[in-house]
Amino acid sequence: MSLVCWTNFPPLGDDRGSLVALEGEKNVPFAIQRVYYLFGTKSGVSRGFHAHKKLQQVAVCVTGKCRMVLDDGQKREEVWLDSSTKGIALPAMVWHEMHDFSPDCVLLVLASEYYDESDYIRNYEDFLRLIK
Ligand code: TYD
Repeated sequence: MSLVCWTNFPPLGDDRGSLVALEGEKNVPFAIQRVYYLFGTKSGVSRGFHAHKKLQQVAVCVTGKCRMVLDDGQKREEVWLDSSTKGIALPAMVWHEMHDFSPDCVLLVLASEYYDESDYIRNYEDFLRLIK
């Protein structure tokens, strides 16, 4: 089974333009505690390189694009986030990395918990040990 799980967010557009609404426990599969976004990522910079013990997240590239790598310790998959109407699930215990940010990329992330550094696994060897 693929590690990549998309959710479509159909735009509620009219002739004025488009609008997407994200709602916790509706089109986002958890109660949203936190929203953050990455923007202005410098050329050549990659981010992420961690997994979370408990946190669930959904990421949407609202403008621009970046390449997301997902790794569950068994397999590694990569996809381009380049649509403002498609969210990718970042479940707990999936290692993720973001690469090749376009200069205009705004990556919006919805999270199920408040920020908690103790929920991070930032070392890949530790991640592999914990996943076993
Ligand atoms: P970090 O999670 O390390 O970024 P990356 O996505 O590249 O792994 O976060 C960068 C910094 O921002 C770090 O000092 C922690 C801080 N931070 C918060 O304070 N709150 C948050 O919600 C997030 C995501 C990060």
